[in-house]
Amino acid sequence: MTPKIAITREVFPETLEYLAPHFEIDNNQVDTPLTATQLVERLRDKDGAITVLTDRIDEALLTRCPKLRAVCNIAVGHNNFDLKALSARGVMATNTPGVLDAATADFTWTLTLATARRLTEAEAWLRAGEWKGWKLQQFLGMDVHGATLGVIGMGRIGQAVARRARGFDMPVLYHNRKPLAPELERDCNARYASLDELLAQSDIVTLHTPYSAESRHLIGAVQLAKMKKTAILIHAARGGVVDDAALIAALKSGTIAAAGLDVFENEPELNPEFLRLKNVVLAPHIASATRTTRANMAMLAAKNLVAALSGERPPNLLNPEVWK
Ligand code: DGY
Repeated sequence: MTPKIAITREVFPETLEYLAPHFEIDNNQVDTPLTATQLVERLRDKDGAITVLTDRIDEALLTRCPKLRAVCNIAVGHNNFDLKALSARGVMATNTPGVLDAATADFTWTLTLATARRLTEAEAWLRAGEWKGWKLQQFLGMDVHGATLGVIGMGRIGQAVARRARGFDMPVLYHNRKPLAPELERDCNARYASLDELLAQSDIVTLHTPYSAESRHLIGAVQLAKMKKTAILIHAARGGVVDDAALIAALKSGTIAAAGLDVFENEPELNPEFLRLKNVVLAPHIASATRTTRANMAMLAAKNLVAALSGERPPNLLNPEVWK
């Protein structure tokens, strides 16, 4: 029998072409986020699913979708999965590591440069018809070249960000659960530092840790107070790694100079205080959003699902304990 799958959000034509010969597909091409009830409705009779980060796959869903054998996220982050519950029921879970590293690192630099040079603030002012002429001291920002970069979370994306700092002649500090091997450190031109040292020394602090119970509010009022008053914070990791209310307070009080943010607590209902601040650059969770990268992510999820439902070990299995 042909396995039945659901695709919970719109994907690309080539993703569908690849999946079509393998499965009977229930495809949410309308692309509206599914509520928990709608998600159960879609997955109830399915063998597998292609999911995105807004689809919560937990015990409550799994009890109502007993046929499910694999869920394949189009994202490297997988905090929408309750891995314990999935493993307990023998359901394979996969993500899409690797294919988005370069695009996410590029976007981290987009945010860094835009924040340091006040680009969105200046553009809004220009669009509002406020520009009456050139001035020596108009929209003065901070130098990125030569500034000290602090990378928190030195996985593949953090490393890709650090490598790009060479072009800007920047000393790089990093903090990670474990220091990198010496040759990788050399390759990234980065030196290991404690979190406190990194926060105190860096002009630009950028976050690249996954979200988990341990990384929740990794950056809060205490950590922000340890940063330089002139420093900027860049966040394209996962909403919740930063305490957004504490960040807003720090941006208002001048505890730090500015922030560039792609992710927020409670997306898409971000704290409205952010919208009132001028010293923040805001983006709607688009760090990996290039056509090529998002298509590669969708294709990798599709390949994981085809492997999982044809009895092969999927390349990006998150819960290997279910593989026998
Ligand atoms: C990821 O892959 O986790 C991204 O946040 C999705 O764009």
